[in-house]
Amino acid sequence: MIKTPHISPVKDNLIAKTVLMPGDPLRAKYIADTFLTDVVKFNEVRNMFGYTGYYKGKKISVMGSGMGMPSIGIYSYELYKFFDVERIIRIGSCGAYSPELKLYDTVLVKEAYSESTYAQVQSGENSHILESSMELDNLLEKIAEDLKIPLHIGRIHSSDVFYRENPDFKALYEDYKCLGVEMESFALFNNAKVLGKQAACLLTVSDSLVTKQVTSAEERQSAFTNMMKIALELAE
Ligand code: HPA
Repeated sequence: MIKTPHISPVKDNLIAKTVLMPGDPLRAKYIADTFLTDVVKFNEVRNMFGYTGYYKGKKISVMGSGMGMPSIGIYSYELYKFFDVERIIRIGSCGAYSPELKLYDTVLVKEAYSESTYAQVQSGENSHILESSMELDNLLEKIAEDLKIPLHIGRIHSSDVFYRENPDFKALYEDYKCLGVEMESFALFNNAKVLGKQAACLLTVSDSLVTKQVTSAEERQSAFTNMMKIALELAE
């Protein structure tokens, strides 16, 4: 039976080829409880819950990634490398740098820019900009169009720091063209690239660094259904 230090299913083949990864394991539970049938919990190590079930009769898994690149780096690497996962779609939240992004808007991430050394240390990758999988993005764009959910499409800043002493993001928006900020995509895209797998990222705007608006933790748990509905259509 395959087990890793952080993922410990009770039997083999419990994890689907496609895994959705919200940051919060309780959001993974919410998605499983709300949208999936015939749900099996495949992980509870460190309470990083993972579930497999069926969406409209098709198999899909959902598991928390935790916050930040070290955390999603561990879980996504183990899923790809040891559990034969082919596609991981991060479904998370972001802070808006662009005035065009309103609370609860959905963003499809084409590129992650980061000052992080994650990719350099992990694989010797020297680029600070990593791409999502074009094939997955094309599918997600088509699904969003069918569901009539508008998408902002572009580059995001993957940051190691949530609480910055100097939260000046002007250069990141104007020079680096980052629409907003989150903390995981860059590591996920690196792992997919290194292991020959696919990764994508959908984000819901949870706060704006421009207008200083914020959403509550409760709203974040349940109000992000648009991005969940798009990603769940990848069940197969
Ligand atoms: N910073 C970093 N990550 C985030 C933010 C933010 O403001 N909002 C949601 N994820």
